[in-house]
Amino acid sequence: MTVSRRHFVSTLGLGSAGLLSPPLFGGRGHEARLAAWLASPAMPPSLIRLDSNENPNGPGPKAFDAIRAMFGEANRYPDDPERALIVAIAKEHGVAEENVVLGCGSSEILRMCVEAFVNTAQHLVTAGPTFELPANFAYTMGRPVVTVPVDAKLRLDLGAMGDKAGGAGLIFFCNPNNPTATVHGDAAVREFVTHVRRNSPATFILIDEAYHEYVDEPSYKTAIPMALADPNVIVSRTFSKVFGMAGLRAGYAIVHRDTARRMAGWRLGAGVNVLAAAAATASIGDLVHIALEQRRNRDAKAFTRAFFEKAGFEVGASDTNFLMIDLRRDMRPVRDACRKDGIAVGRPFPPLTTHLRISIGTMEEMQRATEVLKKVLA
Ligand SMILES: Cc1ncc(COP(=O)(O)O)c(C=O)c1O
Repeated sequence: MTVSRRHFVSTLGLGSAGLLSPPLFGGRGHEARLAAWLASPAMPPSLIRLDSNENPNGPGPKAFDAIRAMFGEANRYPDDPERALIVAIAKEHGVAEENVVLGCGSSEILRMCVEAFVNTAQHLVTAGPTFELPANFAYTMGRPVVTVPVDAKLRLDLGAMGDKAGGAGLIFFCNPNNPTATVHGDAAVREFVTHVRRNSPATFILIDEAYHEYVDEPSYKTAIPMALADPNVIVSRTFSKVFGMAGLRAGYAIVHRDTARRMAGWRLGAGVNVLAAAAATASIGDLVHIALEQRRNRDAKAFTRAFFEKAGFEVGASDTNFLMIDLRRDMRPVRDACRKDGIAVGRPFPPLTTHLRISIGTMEEMQRATEVLKKVLA
């Protein structure tokens, strides 16, 4: 079942009460908003949204119960719910509370890192393409950015990124990488960190693990142990993907105590609202729900991959909730035609302008999307 905004409302028991007004239904996904929000029309509720790597199923039942139970606290600042979330995150990862930094989505963590560690003399190293937010923040702040292209297999070129680290304030290492869906195993991550730490000891390395729960690659491991041992390594996580809470806004970093202190000054005070904090606290250890979401994603992704491969397209490996497909033609007319037929797919990611990024929705959504794509690509 598609968890549309209507489903979210009816699950909360607010459907007919008129409590949620049309603007909430017309809002756009975070990533898409970054790209084109002002220029674009509102999304009709019927649109199948495969453009922002959101989880189509939404939060689990425990999260909804926690949200309902927290309505009465809506008039209070979220000090206690944030504290409870920090305790839950620390418990989940076996770390101390002082190792946890909360963010209004992991976007806030990314912004804090750029604010704290990139300056006019110490550049940001990022990849092309990768998640654009750190580079966009740096550009806005007038701070230098060095972009290293992905390699021929669309993998981050860790060797070249390490080589550009000299004198950098921060390296953004998205693992798995959005939008290419590629992942690096534990040995490669460790080798990269060692390389950077040797060549540029002051540089911070932000390892963004937003898609951690979707990884199937056996050689992959979280970099959290590295972050605990090394103040210059930061790991960010989000509740927007497998936990289905992109609209609630909660994310966090696991970092060394000293790094937590440096980042704290850039935090938006009370950035995680009471409902988001309660839902995240209830969800982080909900292994049954996480396993269900992983299975749903795996099945719908396999179906979608099979469609493209049967149609003769090359589909890259994916350890995420999206696929990257080389259409061997400009993807923009394809995107526009899909949109006319009710399917929103990803934007172009220069320089990969022949590649289509499609987020994995429900099986029903992917069935519909592949019908439309079959027609559009014919
Ligand atoms: C790699 C990556 N990091 C971070 C984010 C931001 O997520 P949020 O701010 O919703 O936690 C996204 C969103 O799509 C992403 O793809």
